[in-house]
Amino acid sequence: MSRYQQIKEKLYSNPRTWLVTGGAGFIGSNLVKSLLQLGQYVRVLDDLSTGYWENVAQVIKETGHQKTENLTFRNGDIYSLETCCSLCEGVDHVLHQAAQVSVPLSMEDPLLNNRTNVDGFLNMLVGARNSGVKTFVFASSCAVYGDDPELPKTEDMKGFPISPYGLTKLMAEQYAALYHSIYGSRPIGLRYFNVFGPRQDPGGAYAAVIPRWISMLLSGRSPVIYGDGEQTRDFCHIDNVVQANILAACTVNEEAFGQVFNVGCGRSTSLNELFGLILDSMRRTGLDVNDPRPIHEAPREGDIIHSKADITKARTFLGYEPEVSVSQGLERSIQWYLDNLK
Ligand SMILES: NC(=O)c1ccc[n+]([C@@H]2O[C@H](COP(=O)([O-])OP(=O)(O)OC[C@H]3O[C@@H](n4cnc5c(N)ncnc54)[C@H](O)[C@@H]3O)[C@@H](O)[C@H]2O)c1
Repeated sequence: MSRYQQIKEKLYSNPRTWLVTGGAGFIGSNLVKSLLQLGQYVRVLDDLSTGYWENVAQVIKETGHQKTENLTFRNGDIYSLETCCSLCEGVDHVLHQAAQVSVPLSMEDPLLNNRTNVDGFLNMLVGARNSGVKTFVFASSCAVYGDDPELPKTEDMKGFPISPYGLTKLMAEQYAALYHSIYGSRPIGLRYFNVFGPRQDPGGAYAAVIPRWISMLLSGRSPVIYGDGEQTRDFCHIDNVVQANILAACTVNEEAFGQVFNVGCGRSTSLNELFGLILDSMRRTGLDVNDPRPIHEAPREGDIIHSKADITKARTFLGYEPEVSVSQGLERSIQWYLDNLK
């Protein structure tokens, strides 16, 4: 039995209390769903700035009423220390996902970015420490590596972020490491690569490539590829990210605390390949797609050319083993968009 399976069985027979910040967003709502399915008690803190109450409502519907009696929702801002402290009380594990998530927006409004991703983050660290939570797992990002061309990315590489977003994620990691060394807090940072899956928002100016393309293709439009399409990303289905969070929160490996871990699949896919994989998945799902061609436009300034995670550290310390491949994940996601974009 895998380590993940063992932990899930343990949680199921002995439920714990979790706080998921950003639980109305894409990643957070998927975490909430998995925790409820495991019979856990879950608190959500979200200000609904980029998340949606509908995501929470959908999770409630999908998990059934019996399990969702275990769920409480607070519409609030992590910028409020009082809110963070009161919600951390009595919590075993924090999964901190709330953040200002857009790189372009962080360039336009670095103060807002700092307010949420550094001040808000610190409020959560303080709240978690005051309440003595067992573990504090938080979302970091591959953006901390900046545009250093060396691949694959290993956690010991020195990052030079090229956006306020990347910088604030790096600052959060450093605060967490400091809290571990001076107060003995037990934080673990997860550097997500390109996560995709159900409930990822396809709208808005800063939408991620997979939901944007799927939604365009479903409505008969051609997606835009900036540049020649040979740029690569380590796309990672949300179920793998949920696994990494649960493993990190429940780890008994003391050496994991105060550390950061890459969370990807350890494989790179070019945008041209991705386009083909999406079309294949759509056809396998029974959709009648002809032979749409992407529109190529000039490369965007600041776009990183290649990205790929080395996931050895997460494997070794946490027992992380991605279970869903990119093409399996695409198929699951397309089915979700088909059911929900009507
Ligand atoms: N999606 C990815 O590929 C990816 C990659 C790297 C890192 N991340 C990180 O993962 C986390 C979740 O991202 P996501 O993709 O689910 O984005 P999302 O926008 O769907 O989720 C973020 C959630 O945080 C909430 N939020 C924002 N500011 C808040 C505040 N001040 N107080 C309370 N709630 C607030 C939003 O309303 C939203 O529900 C973020 O920390 C993000 O930086 C995501």
